[in-house]
Amino acid sequence: MPKRPRIAVVGSANVDLTTFTDRFPKPGETMFGQKFDLGFGGKGANQAVAARLCGADVFMVARVGSDLFGPATIENFKKLGIDATHVNQVQGVSSGVAPIFVEPNGQNRIFVVKGANDELKPKDVDSAADMLKSVDCIVLQFEIPLETVYYTVAFARKNGIRCILNPAPGQPIDVAAIKDLDYFVPNESEAETITGMPVKNLDDAKKCALKLVADGIRRVIITLGENGSLLATREGMQHLPAFPVKCLDSTGAGDAFIGSFAVFLGEDLPEREAVRRANLYAGLSTTGVGTQKSFCDRARFDAEWVSRGKS
Ligand code: RIB
Repeated sequence: MPKRPRIAVVGSANVDLTTFTDRFPKPGETMFGQKFDLGFGGKGANQAVAARLCGADVFMVARVGSDLFGPATIENFKKLGIDATHVNQVQGVSSGVAPIFVEPNGQNRIFVVKGANDELKPKDVDSAADMLKSVDCIVLQFEIPLETVYYTVAFARKNGIRCILNPAPGQPIDVAAIKDLDYFVPNESEAETITGMPVKNLDDAKKCALKLVADGIRRVIITLGENGSLLATREGMQHLPAFPVKCLDSTGAGDAFIGSFAVFLGEDLPEREAVRRANLYAGLSTTGVGTQKSFCDRARFDAEWVSRGKS
């Protein structure tokens, strides 16, 4: 039996409103979408759910709004066995929501209205300090205030806890404030926004990863969608290809990667294997619709890994 990791996510929780459409309306045009899906999402919550389904004990630190979605989100965490002691409701503010549009090829476009996620502050990290000191890994994203992200990175470093940062959605950052983390995991567009360098292909991604490592970030993984991922450290780079899947909806695949990667690392698997497994877990998530509801459980993942992982 692999070791059971303890993982905390300090991050966002949204409700996703996903419309499947052939194209986007022109200005002033009303058109019919094909299908609609309502589900729990938010990059932080999705990563927590992926980690939980992969078998970790998971703790969420988040803020939800004083609307219908707030209590429902907390209930969803509890139902999945995620500790929601540090998920608090903010009065007079909406929950985070994400109108999402998915094209027939599975490509997505996402708006995020942060709502209560913007109220997650360093004091919430202090309130959860005892729990946070007990985990193996803290996972962060950018749907909460950057001040809280920087504070949590420093907290993790001070307490010797592994820290994984997914800088999503991409925004300009103070690289010096995040140098101390263990893994920095952007996708192509986030890497572009943060470095100002184009990331259109694997060569671009390598140049971009080199810059991030040269800027002082120790371990960088750029996720490349159907091209897998690129792992870059001071020792060198490795491109780890994706596993072939039939993509229906790519929304949340990055979150599936991060949450599962945190678990595989926490099980003390070699880094390269942890990345390959996370590539597969993320790929499998694109074969279903929605975010959290497209993530598979550990039994299904293990069966897929046995049949495909050696390739
Ligand atoms: O990464 C996918 C997620 O981005 C969605 O669940 C949406 O809520 C946004 O946060």
